[in-house]
Amino acid sequence: MSGTGNARLPAGAGVENARPLAGPGIENARPLAGPGIENARPLTGRVAAISGATGGIGRAVARRLAADGARVVLLGRDEARLAAAWDDLSAASPLAEFHLRKIDIADAASTAAALAAIREAVGPVDVLIHCAGDVMPAPLLETADADWEAALGGKLLGTIRLTREVARDMAARRGGSIVFVNGAFAREPDPLFPAASTVVAALSAFAKAISRDLGASGVRVNAVNPGATETPLWHGLAEALGRRFGATAADVTGMAAAKSPLGRIGRPEDVADAIAFLASPAASHITGATLQVDGGASAAL
Ligand SMILES: NC(=O)c1ccc[n+]([C@@H]2O[C@H](COP(=O)([O-])OP(=O)(O)OC[C@H]3O[C@@H](n4cnc5c(N)ncnc54)[C@H](OP(=O)(O)O)[C@@H]3O)[C@@H](O)[C@H]2O)c1
Repeated sequence: MSGTGNARLPAGAGVENARPLAGPGIENARPLAGPGIENARPLTGRVAAISGATGGIGRAVARRLAADGARVVLLGRDEARLAAAWDDLSAASPLAEFHLRKIDIADAASTAAALAAIREAVGPVDVLIHCAGDVMPAPLLETADADWEAALGGKLLGTIRLTREVARDMAARRGGSIVFVNGAFAREPDPLFPAASTVVAALSAFAKAISRDLGASGVRVNAVNPGATETPLWHGLAEALGRRFGATAADVTGMAAAKSPLGRIGRPEDVADAIAFLASPAASHITGATLQVDGGASAAL
């Protein structure tokens, strides 16, 4: 949000330092801070950047990583949505540290500028979580080149580029953790979603490939595959699928819930908990892994 004159707090190198309670002594006001207790918060002091932080899963991840002690940088394309996310998160976690930074991951210059600003104002990124993405039903014969260019040049290349630039710093500092939020289509490509299936399958392969390279530098790379999860994206999807098949969005959600042995669709917090584990030292010997967070909906081994 550089140069926007946002009045929240003084901007540092284009990243708002959005800590409402920052100041001498406040650091220690964290409820569990103190010798020995610090370790109870596995990400204490770590800088965690979250793309798509304005969305359902992204916000839940931000809240969860902040509770784990991380200094959280919210990334998103839209200033108003970013500000709304910051307001919600700060109200829910007043002692946590949230920063916000506008970024369009589809744009190389925007990505470079955002990372430079974060590095300068907050510090190098220790944890990177990729939550940015969208999905709409469009079988092959309904797609045009522009749809494929948007998917491949946007989410796919954007995620790869952001990963590469952050991984460069992580490798130089010999540590870091990256988590991709892919999706069930990565293992079970869906004819209604050929572009999204292609992108998440490619990102799964990418995550595995780079995990085998970056491990030697102490950087771990993992992924989660959410199933249907209660977020704004899911609501839009359920509406669109309902229109296509002459059903209501509630019917579509009911069918998705019925696919899970646990009988419900996911909550964003379910995905955030899995991501927090993979990002934490508790997963220090896990890299190149993918965790299904779909209530058992996928039948794949
Ligand atoms: N919810 C589900 O059922 C489900 C299931 C499987 C996988 N997923 C995946 O999980 C991730 C998070 O989904 P969600 O349910 O939290 O969705 P959401 O609520 O719609 O949030 C996604 C966020 O990503 C950002 N975004 C969307 N398209 C983007 C693009 N091309 N480039 C950069 N940013 C983009 C948007 O933020 P701004 O526009 O503000 O930047 C949006 O707020 C997505 O990748 C989604 O595909 C979700």
